[in-house]
Amino acid sequence: MRETALMIELKNITKEYVSKKNRIIGVDNVSLTINRGEIFGIVGYSGAGKSTLLRCMNILERPTSGIVKVDGVDLLQLSSKELRKARQSIGMIFQGFHLVASKTVYENVAFALKAAGVENSIIKESVEELLTIVGLEDRINQYPAQLSGGQKQRVSIARALANNPKVLLCDEATSALDPNTTQSILALLKRINKELGLTIVIITHEMEVVKEICHRCAVMQDGRIVEQGPTYQIFSNPIDPLTKRFIDTVLSFKLPRKLVEGIKGKLVRLQFRGEIAAEAVVSDMLQTFLVKGNILHGKVEYIQDLPLGIFIMELNGDEQEVEKAIDYLRGRVSVVEVVENE
Ligand SMILES: Nc1ncnc2c1ncn2[C@@H]1O[C@H](COP(=O)(O)OP(=O)(O)OP(=O)(O)O)[C@@H](O)[C@H]1O
Ligand SMILES: [Mg+2]
Repeated sequence: MRETALMIELKNITKEYVSKKNRIIGVDNVSLTINRGEIFGIVGYSGAGKSTLLRCMNILERPTSGIVKVDGVDLLQLSSKELRKARQSIGMIFQGFHLVASKTVYENVAFALKAAGVENSIIKESVEELLTIVGLEDRINQYPAQLSGGQKQRVSIARALANNPKVLLCDEATSALDPNTTQSILALLKRINKELGLTIVIITHEMEVVKEICHRCAVMQDGRIVEQGPTYQIFSNPIDPLTKRFIDTVLSFKLPRKLVEGIKGKLVRLQFRGEIAAEAVVSDMLQTFLVKGNILHGKVEYIQDLPLGIFIMELNGDEQEVEKAIDYLRGRVSVVEVVENE
C-alpha cells in the first residue's frame, strides 16, 4: 500500500455511554486527522472527552459510530485477532505509568515483547537498547518502587516503544510530574519523534506541554473539538473563548494593582508575530506622534521555535494623537488591543 501523509483519521466519531438511568456522550461527532510524524496535542478540561477520544484511536473504546483509520487500516473492520496485532503498532502511556510493581524494569519492558511473540534470544538485546533510548540502562534490575516518577514514565515509554510502534498515544503522561521532570520527558518524546519518526498524540490540560512540543493541537469541550490548528496559530490568534482561556494560562500576566491605579493614559497590548522587530515599530510610533509611551511589560515566548512578542504599553497624550498612534500600530503589529483599566 502506498504511504500516505495521514497516520490517524477519525471520521464522525461518537461515543455514548448508555446505562439504565442515563445516556452520556463522551465524544460527540469528532473528525480529526493526524499526519505521519506529527506531534498532535489535545487539550481540554476534565470531562471534555479527551481520554475517550484517545482510546477510540486504538479501540480500547469502541466508538458508537464513526470510522477509525490508523496508517490506512480501518480498525473497526478488523477481527479481534487482527486488532490485537494492529494495536502492537500503537503504543500508549498514562499519567499513572501502569507498571507491574512485582516486576523489574527489565521484566516490565520484556513483557511487551514476549506478549508480541518476540524470540527470547532477541528480547535481552532489545530491552537494553530500549532502556538506553530512555536513559535508564543502569536501572535495569530495579523495581518500580525504587524509581522516581520521571524514571517510571521512562520505563513505560520504553515498554510502549518495544514493538516498534508507528504511533504513541500519551494520556496526561506528564501530569503527575514536577515541571523539571515534565521538561525532561517532553524532551525525550521530542527526540523519539525526530529520531524514530514516531507519530505522537498527547492529551493534556497543560498548555505549556502543547507550547513545548506539539506541531498542531485541538481544544475539546463537551465531547467536541471547538478549535484546532498549528500550535503557533492557536497561540497567536485563538478564536474560541475556551482556547483563549487556555492560552491565557501561558501568555497572560497581571500588572500589579498599584501600577494599574497610577495609569492615566491608555493601556495597549501589542502582539508581534514572527520576526517583526518590536522596538523599531514602537520607536517609530513615538517619533511620528505626539504621545509618550511607557512599556510596562514585555516578553517574547518561543512557540515551535517561532517568536511571539507581547508588550503592554501605556500611551499618554492628546486623545486624538493617542488614537492615531493606536491606528498606526494596528497597521504594523499583528494584534493591538486596548486594555481597560480595572
Ligand atoms: N466508562 C464510562 N462510562 C460512563 N461514562 C463515561 C465512561 N468513560 C467516560 N465517561 C464520560 O465521558 C465523558 C468524557 O470523559 P473522559 O474521561 O474522556 O474525559 P477527559 O477529558 O479525559 O477528562 P480528564 O481530564 O478528567 O481525564 C465524561 O462525562 C465521563 O464521565
Ligand atoms: Mg482523561
